Amino acid sequence: MSASDKAWKGRFAEPTDAFVEAFTASVAFDKRLYRHDIAGSIAHARMLAQVGILTQDEAEAIAAGLAAIQADIEAGTFIWSVAREDVHMNIEAALTERIGEVGKKLHTARSRNDQVATTVRLYLRDGIDELGAGLRGLAAVFLRLAEREAETVMPGFTHLQVAQPVTLGHHILAWFEMITRDAERLIDARKRVNVMPLGAGALAGTSFPIDRDMTARALGFAQPAENSLDAVSDRDFVIEFAAAAALIMVHLSRMAEELVLWSTPQFGFIELADGFCTGSSIMPQKKNPDVPELLRGKSARVIGNLTALLVLMKGQPLAYNKDNQEDKEPLFDTLDTVRDSVRALTELLPATTFHRERMRREALRGYPTATDLADYLVRRGLAFRDAHEAAARAVRLAIERTADLAELPLADLKTCSPLIENDVFAALTIEGSLAARDHRGGTAPRQVRAAITRGQERLAALAALSP
Ligand code: ARG
Repeated sequence: MSASDKAWKGRFAEPTDAFVEAFTASVAFDKRLYRHDIAGSIAHARMLAQVGILTQDEAEAIAAGLAAIQADIEAGTFIWSVAREDVHMNIEAALTERIGEVGKKLHTARSRNDQVATTVRLYLRDGIDELGAGLRGLAAVFLRLAEREAETVMPGFTHLQVAQPVTLGHHILAWFEMITRDAERLIDARKRVNVMPLGAGALAGTSFPIDRDMTARALGFAQPAENSLDAVSDRDFVIEFAAAAALIMVHLSRMAEELVLWSTPQFGFIELADGFCTGSSIMPQKKNPDVPELLRGKSARVIGNLTALLVLMKGQPLAYNKDNQEDKEPLFDTLDTVRDSVRALTELLPATTFHRERMRREALRGYPTATDLADYLVRRGLAFRDAHEAAARAVRLAIERTADLAELPLADLKTCSPLIENDVFAALTIEGSLAARDHRGGTAPRQVRAAITRGQERLAALAALSP
């Protein structure tokens, strides 16, 4: 195509430099917005007809032409042109080629600035809804696993040192909390995505008597954007989504790190399914946890995308600037990466084997019931600080004897505190320790089951809030 075919050719005496044309074009990556761009254009054309700027016939010819273009794109027969710069001008030019002069009327009372902002919001709204469904799916997997493992004993860690016994179900419910917060955050961010820029024009509004409420309704927006300058320049909604997405990836990365650790022979808590691992080209014995490692690794790019978007915006004066074209790739990459990462974990977990015996054995190492001994002494009337000291003496004794606390004879335990009686042993067992944490939020199997019931209700409420 020659320079004289460009939509803005009238102002220019010379053609665009070929390199500059390629440098400024975005069609290679923004063509994926085609469906949402077309939806926005059809709503705009029908609104123009409603207020008398176009005839009904003109609007319907435009709508039919755009639908045919969409079919071509989906059939793979549409030819994208770099000379036409972006998805919006490609579609508009193709429309005029297809339906003739009336195609040129579509851009009345609109600018690419309010057009692109509208298109990106429509696209992201769908992306959020898809991701929200994915997160709910992952959260449901957590609940099923937690149910199955409500009684499974494992060591709980602080500082990655054995701290107190917990149930595996309780640990998985901690993951459920993270992901459920993420899903709630997306629903909240969606409210600020779902506002319509159309009608803002290039920056100041339009001189035509448009009906913005009608277009907003047609496109499912909650309302038109309040200020035209803000409407064309605001990308907060992209940043907010990217921030929520970065946090999702931080959560997935933390879970992945645990899975990587747990799958080592040293931990031996889990075995990942072969389908989720790869081998080594040199070491025959290796089975590498690639999928969790990549979940951890992919968090980097999503966090990087958030940073890129923040920096992209920080120097921009009102209103639209071409810088904004750079919002697309980080946004698309974020959507793709988070969607696939959520899917990977959702599929990996049910295929994972948990070695319950091994976890229980490891829970016994490291005197995890020392706190229970201190608590026991408190119930016998000792102040907690003194009880802590007495229990620490018992731990030292146990280390000397290479025995577990519960294996020390009563006489030895009594040297740590005379308040210790025979009933102490019930408190010193793993099961006793778990069952004792019997309050909302605690690790007792009974509480895990109650938390699962509440979790199911929360998931149902989230689903009801989502479109
Ligand atoms: N491709 C552009 C973008 O993504 C569309 C808007 C261009 N507007 C303009 N006045 N050049 O931001």
